[in-house]
Amino acid sequence: MRWQIVTGSPESVKAEAIVFGVFEDLDFTPLSAGNQLTETARQIRFKGKAGEAFFAFDLFGAPAKHLLVVGLGTRAALGPDGLRAASALAVRKLHERFLKEAALALPLDADSPQARSESICALTEGLLLANERFGRYKTGEETPYDGLHACRILVSKRKPEYEEGARRGEVLAQATLFARTLVSEPSNVLTPARMAEEAKKLAKEYGFSLKVYDEEACEKMGMGAYLAVAQGSKNPPRFIHLSYRPKGARFRLGLVGKGLTFDSGGLSLKPADNMGAMKSDMAGSAAVLGAMKAIGELKPAVAVEAVMAMAENMPGGSAYRPGDILKSMSGKTIEVLNTDAEGRLTLADALAYVQRQKVDAIVDLATLTGACVVALGPDYAGAMGNDQAFLDEVLAAAKGSGDLLWPLPLPEAYGKYIKSAVADVANISRIRWGGALTAGLFLKHFIDEGTPWVHLDIAGPALREDDGIDAHKAEGSGAGVRTLVRLALSKGA
Ligand code: BES
Ligand code: ZN
Ligand code: ZN
Repeated sequence: MRWQIVTGSPESVKAEAIVFGVFEDLDFTPLSAGNQLTETARQIRFKGKAGEAFFAFDLFGAPAKHLLVVGLGTRAALGPDGLRAASALAVRKLHERFLKEAALALPLDADSPQARSESICALTEGLLLANERFGRYKTGEETPYDGLHACRILVSKRKPEYEEGARRGEVLAQATLFARTLVSEPSNVLTPARMAEEAKKLAKEYGFSLKVYDEEACEKMGMGAYLAVAQGSKNPPRFIHLSYRPKGARFRLGLVGKGLTFDSGGLSLKPADNMGAMKSDMAGSAAVLGAMKAIGELKPAVAVEAVMAMAENMPGGSAYRPGDILKSMSGKTIEVLNTDAEGRLTLADALAYVQRQKVDAIVDLATLTGACVVALGPDYAGAMGNDQAFLDEVLAAAKGSGDLLWPLPLPEAYGKYIKSAVADVANISRIRWGGALTAGLFLKHFIDEGTPWVHLDIAGPALREDDGIDAHKAEGSGAGVRTLVRLALSKGA
């Protein structure tokens, strides 16, 4: 979609549709048919609350044929999140009528340049994210409609922060959409090798250096935990390492993404119901690649080492077994009690590897546990870590990004649940409860003392079960991308 920032009154812009945002005070005075609209709103019991919208036609002498009114809630409560939701809702509504162009009149006149930039950034994200659907495998039905082609964003006065914010919003949205597509792609298409090709394209486009290790190379590095997970599949593993090292960077950030292109559970096979959702078990690595795309565009002054241990967890004849004892790259041994707790095994080696890159801090993202979804529901990612200050930075980066994070503890006392009788650690807890925390504690075994580390369990938000604000049912969400980019931007500032 093409977007453009323009000045003027809502009725002065030529477009198929005008989107007009209104607060709960139902103040329609900027429109010539204002009184009539207030009347209509009352009649249909439209209150101007967030999430409400209605269409009106030919109510005024403006060039636009369709007027879409979108509720914004109260002025005091409206921030970037509300604007993202409002523009996304507008796009959904415009899609219902197969419209191709619109002009958006939403309140962007926040008090500070920073707030104005954040406002238009979020608005642009909502616009672009809601407009795109994963439709590439639908062939030849009905008349194809591919969403809005053009949108004008109305502001009262031209300001540089509007251009900067909208451009940043576009970069963040494109990076999120890239991650979404990777997650939505099925496992027969998106294999570890294909993911390595995607990394190669990014490396070429943005000048990152890239290393892709095959099975043999991983074997040489001693990645016994990661390779065990991969050994039951015909699709060979690929260990991906992208680095972005700008001149003058004073901080080196390690990003690690869980990359199971499919998780059947292995010999501890998952039930058939909804197993297809496990194509999304690489959403952590998709978020990392998505973030690298935005980092390539925005070029923050921070070094980033991005690591993804890609594999497919399958129950083939050569699959690893419950009872196996694995030697990880760190030297620690792991007793496998359940082959479906595979993500933490791949991450153990990925975390060991990234720490050899002399990173100052690490964020890992993983669709790690169903328990995290039980704890927080489908929208929130669980955030755990070993360093409160760094965890706070990650939480601050998530704020206003559209990613929802919620802190979870890593209680030392629960360590006893993952003790093994025969190895250094077991890959599952011996009790049923608190599975997101024991998974986090398992990962913590592989983090050196003194390295700030945050673990984001994105099992809930990675794949959307229902339509969300700006994401679509049964598609990847791109969860985590914008948090990572904002973190990199703040570290590079
Ligand atoms: N990939 C799954 C976790 C998952 C569940 C992601 C639901 C997204 C939605 C992970 O590998 C897994 O199977 N975890 C097990 C761990 C258990 C065996 C300790 C789980 O959560 O049941
Ligand atoms: Zn699993
Ligand atoms: Zn998994």
